[in-house]
Amino acid sequence: MAIRKIARMGHPVLRQPTALVVDPTAPEVARLIADMFETMVDAEGVGIAAPQVYESVKIVMLYTPEDAARPDDLRDKDLAILINPVVTVLGESLEEGWEGCLSVPGLRGAVARPAHIGYRALGPDGQKIEREARGFHARVVQHECDHLAGVLYPMQMNDMAKLVFTSEWKHFAAAEGLDETEGLGDGEADPENDQEKE
Ligand code: NI
Repeated sequence: MAIRKIARMGHPVLRQPTALVVDPTAPEVARLIADMFETMVDAEGVGIAAPQVYESVKIVMLYTPEDAARPDDLRDKDLAILINPVVTVLGESLEEGWEGCLSVPGLRGAVARPAHIGYRALGPDGQKIEREARGFHARVVQHECDHLAGVLYPMQMNDMAKLVFTSEWKHFAAAEGLDETEGLGDGEADPENDQEKE
């Protein structure tokens, strides 16, 4: 296993289309998954997608408890490893929430996304995974699967006034009357710690 360098916004690998994984049980897939996990843990993320470690294939992983409201609640909980995932929107309603991204260090932004989704994928054992997700779980799945289509969360934002440095978050939250501890996507959980990891 190895901690990989994380691609940052602007690198073309983050915009490229990704390839389907032909054999989820192949040894090279297992190695990539192990590296992604180690990289995500080292960077204190709650999810990661293969293009973020310069691999243009359809693999994401994320923590998935249904009841988690904040990234801190996700630690040491269920980890989903999704190969060739497909997301289906199951409801009309959109929910706005705050996201961060390991490829967009030092920032967080508000993104409106469908609140209720279904997703299908294969696991690393080749078995089918089929789930529904709401709330933060649904948000992280959509954020990670967007990476597989070359989409970063700022591209999904409709109000750039809500793109803020994590180091300014306390001031922003106070001025806007927001919960200072509000969750984010796969990025930094600690607003004080927005240094690059690599
Ligand atoms: Ni991300």
